[in-house]
Amino acid sequence: MIFSDISRDLLDLDEALARQMGVMDRCRFIHAPADDLSAIGDATVDAVTTRSVLIYVADKQGYFNEMGRVLRPGGHVSLFEPINRYSYDEDPNRFWGFDVSPVQDIAEKIHSVYAQRQPIDSDQMMNFDERNLLAFAERAGFAERHLELHVDITRWPPRP
Ligand SMILES: C[S@@+](CC[C@H](N)C(=O)[O-])C[C@H]1O[C@@H](n2cnc3c(N)ncnc32)[C@H](O)[C@@H]1O
Repeated sequence: MIFSDISRDLLDLDEALARQMGVMDRCRFIHAPADDLSAIGDATVDAVTTRSVLIYVADKQGYFNEMGRVLRPGGHVSLFEPINRYSYDEDPNRFWGFDVSPVQDIAEKIHSVYAQRQPIDSDQMMNFDERNLLAFAERAGFAERHLELHVDITRWPPRP
């Protein structure tokens, strides 16, 4: 089992848990960005699983290419990613679903800060959706691809 993350803190936590479970002899920890897994040899891994990491990676194709490189022929990737692209086309009276018409000027200010800091077309957390994920996988050489799109639209309790 290889644990890989860009955060030393997260790897330390993984290591503490593995030690507690008595499975350290089966674990390896790699401190690396997802799009550079050079510490892992070509075609040496049976399966890759990742959740909510790709969203932080600018070079998403590089990440898929690395997953393809380290996998043995016939290996699998299982990944989960939140898709943010669709959430930001709201009516100006709404903010994350809440009616903000009485404070619309403030809501617009906040929208414009987000639009500056995370432009929807270029920010790595916003600029992709499930179709891009399929295309990245195809370009990285994954012959068979399965996509499940799960949409949750729920009311959040208002926060102060
Ligand atoms: C939202 S957390 C998800 C953690 C875990 N995969 C889970 O599902 O609970 C995002 C993780 O991605 C890692 N991360 C962010 N940017 C990364 C990068 N460029 N390369 C590798 N890991 C990265 C963070 O350190 C963090 O552990």
